[in-house]
Amino acid sequence: MAILLPGGAGYIGSHTAVELLNEGKEIVILDNFSNSKPEVLERIKKITGKDFKFYEMDYLDKQALEKVFEENEIDAVLNFAGYKAVGESVQKPLEYYHNNITGCLVLLETMKKFNVKKFIFSSSATVYGEPEKIPLTEECRTGGTTNPYGTSKLFIEQILKDLYKSDNTWDICILRYFNPVGSHESGLIGEEPQGIPNNLMPYIARVAAGTLKELSVFGNDYNTPDGTGVRDYIHVVDLAKGHVCALNKLDKEGQGIFIYNLGTGKGYSVLDMVKAFEKATGKDVPYRIAPRREGDIATCYADPKKAKEELNWVATKSLEDMCKDSWNYIEKNS
Ligand code: NAD
Ligand code: UFG
Repeated sequence: MAILLPGGAGYIGSHTAVELLNEGKEIVILDNFSNSKPEVLERIKKITGKDFKFYEMDYLDKQALEKVFEENEIDAVLNFAGYKAVGESVQKPLEYYHNNITGCLVLLETMKKFNVKKFIFSSSATVYGEPEKIPLTEECRTGGTTNPYGTSKLFIEQILKDLYKSDNTWDICILRYFNPVGSHESGLIGEEPQGIPNNLMPYIARVAAGTLKELSVFGNDYNTPDGTGVRDYIHVVDLAKGHVCALNKLDKEGQGIFIYNLGTGKGYSVLDMVKAFEKATGKDVPYRIAPRREGDIATCYADPKKAKEELNWVATKSLEDMCKDSWNYIEKNS
């Protein structure tokens, strides 16, 4: 029995592939490399010493997808495929809705055809929109997303709820990631943003490396301790392990639709991150205060209690680990 990872060559998928292989699971990855590189596959093998099957294909290609299900005994699907750049999604809504939503629908239809009904979905804290309260629990109101990327996550969550309602033999787990950062300690796999990064940690790392001149801190007049935005940064290896725990739950307990926040429960400001990065790496990160970025919220962090109680999962890596490992990847790969 194998676990299928669409988008498994990407940032979170590749780290999850490592954790699944380390647990002795058989995996199959498919990816079209629209936001990743083929070298990642060899690196996953190097880290784990294990082999796996790979298909270079688009997950929207129903025929090719059916072939994957025909050729392998797939037991569960962890879907990482999709586009994720918030700003770009505003410019290209149709491409985002098509790739994220239609792609997921094609995947679910194919799963149904082959009677594979175990599904884990990469959702995001973005579905909470402007937080109703902090820390965010899974019961908090969702909606009010400010861009097509976030809305695609919200829609897919609804599609999954409707699917389960229609057929309760599905086992579905929706994982709402907070802010994934860092990379595997080997420095062999990590985040590869195309062009200038949008997200804070990859931006900071490139300023430290001298590739970018300075960090623009988007706003210092938020209602937060130092005025800059507060987020829940989570090490990608902790996040990857959360998927193994989610899969174990579906394997053991079966039918149901479950939703979990994957975060640390701690909020750090932009300036906290700059200071932590400088301390962990000994590098300078020059910054200037810039206007607020449209669509940003002041504070967002998780209440991770439900994942602890029901998945037996907690994030264990520190902010120092996140900074050191982000830097290690940049140093080894530039
Ligand atoms: P990523 O871009 O690194 O990985 C996505 C992978 O999917 C890439 O390898 C890409 O080539 C592949 N892909 C995209 N469209 C495809 C298609 N049509 N067919 C086949 N492969 C395709 O992104 P990531 O950071 O690893 O994110 C994984 C998932 O987690 C995404 O759904 C993302 O929206 C979600 N997520 C990410 C974050 C984050 O901050 N990184 C936060 C919350 C949720
Ligand atoms: N920030 C800066 N300067 C930068 C980049 C970011 O000051 O150059 C600030 C932002 O204003 C925010 C914080 O750093 O306060 C974090 O910003 P990111 O862009 O790294 O992350 P977001 O919280 O905006 O969004 C991320 C992902 C989304 C995901 C969300 C919740 O980009 O896809 O986390 O999981 F939905």
